[in-house]
Amino acid sequence: MRLKNTWINGDCLKELKKMDDESVDLVITSPPYHNLRVYSNDPCDLSNCESYEEYYYLLGLVIAECSRVLKPGGKFVMQFEDYNYTIGRDNKMGQESLTGDIDRIMKEHDMSLWTKAFWRKYSAQRAMLAQGNLYYRNMKARDTILAANVGFVYVYKKAGECELIKASDITLEEWADWADGVWNISNSGIGHTTPFAEELVKRCIKLWSCPGDVILDPFAGAGTVNKVAIENNRNAIGIELKKEFYDLANVERFNKWDDSVYETEDSIEKMKERFNEQLLIGKEQSARGKAEKEEQKQLRDRKKELRSEIKELEAQLNALGMKKSEIKKLKDSVKEETND
Ligand SMILES: C[S@@+](CC[C@H](N)C(=O)[O-])C[C@H]1O[C@@H](n2cnc3c(N)ncnc32)[C@H](O)[C@@H]1O
Repeated sequence: MRLKNTWINGDCLKELKKMDDESVDLVITSPPYHNLRVYSNDPCDLSNCESYEEYYYLLGLVIAECSRVLKPGGKFVMQFEDYNYTIGRDNKMGQESLTGDIDRIMKEHDMSLWTKAFWRKYSAQRAMLAQGNLYYRNMKARDTILAANVGFVYVYKKAGECELIKASDITLEEWADWADGVWNISNSGIGHTTPFAEELVKRCIKLWSCPGDVILDPFAGAGTVNKVAIENNRNAIGIELKKEFYDLANVERFNKWDDSVYETEDSIEKMKERFNEQLLIGKEQSARGKAEKEEQKQLRDRKKELRSEIKELEAQLNALGMKKSEIKKLKDSVKEETND
């Protein structure tokens, strides 16, 4: 199978318009969060809007385009945070909640919430703890705001059905680790201020797509989604406005690939084989578990039987006139002998 890594420098609103309807299997993205971080002074930059209303309007246009290019039943993984205001930047305290607004835009464009996970970025957590004294010094009783450090991974589903395949690209062990939806993943990156952790992207790709699928990131930053998609045998399309980030990905990430098109041996059939192998392992594990339980039950039953036999013997000895203290001595000596 041939895979393609498409890496575009431009405004996602313009670039998405060039793409065909229903040509993408999975969207994974982390948009700018209004003015939390301003990436550039480009008028097309969503982090550079005059007001929250303008930001919300433009984000809606991008989501509408993503919904158009997504196949029916395809998933849209939106990674975002409700962030703390600061006096310096926002002239107020409290939290900006993007959750409700994002949910509203998604619904307006045929997408409904499918499932979700929470990303605890523990390297950032450590950085916050390092400044703990500063946070603590500035606390005001009755007015505490937590230095929350949890990202949301909301997975939306476009109306309609995708081709359902009775298999998965994740192992049993991965499932056991990921299924509760609370993901402790250390954040890391290659020079972008707000990078995706590669592990987070890998989980999303393996959970909601198949080998050979097309994965899109309209706010691609330093190309994390492209890199991880190709490494996991998926096609990738990334769009990034800022030339500096676009070049960074080209130099740091994509230079090891001679061409943007290359071959892979992987396929949906191979994924099915991997899945069936995992099912066998699962069956063996549960059979072993059952056998162990049965063995323990038999042991418990045998102990019970022995205890009642001993009690019966004690009663007989007692009836023959043996004192309780003598019976105890006898029991202790038998115990000692069996221990020897
Ligand atoms: C939260 S960051 C994404 C980081 C990315 N997930 C990564 O792993 O590197 C948001 C990105 O959106 C880009 N951006 C903002 N407005 C854009 C637009 N209109 N078109 C494309 N990219 C845009 C910013 O330059 C920034 O790199």
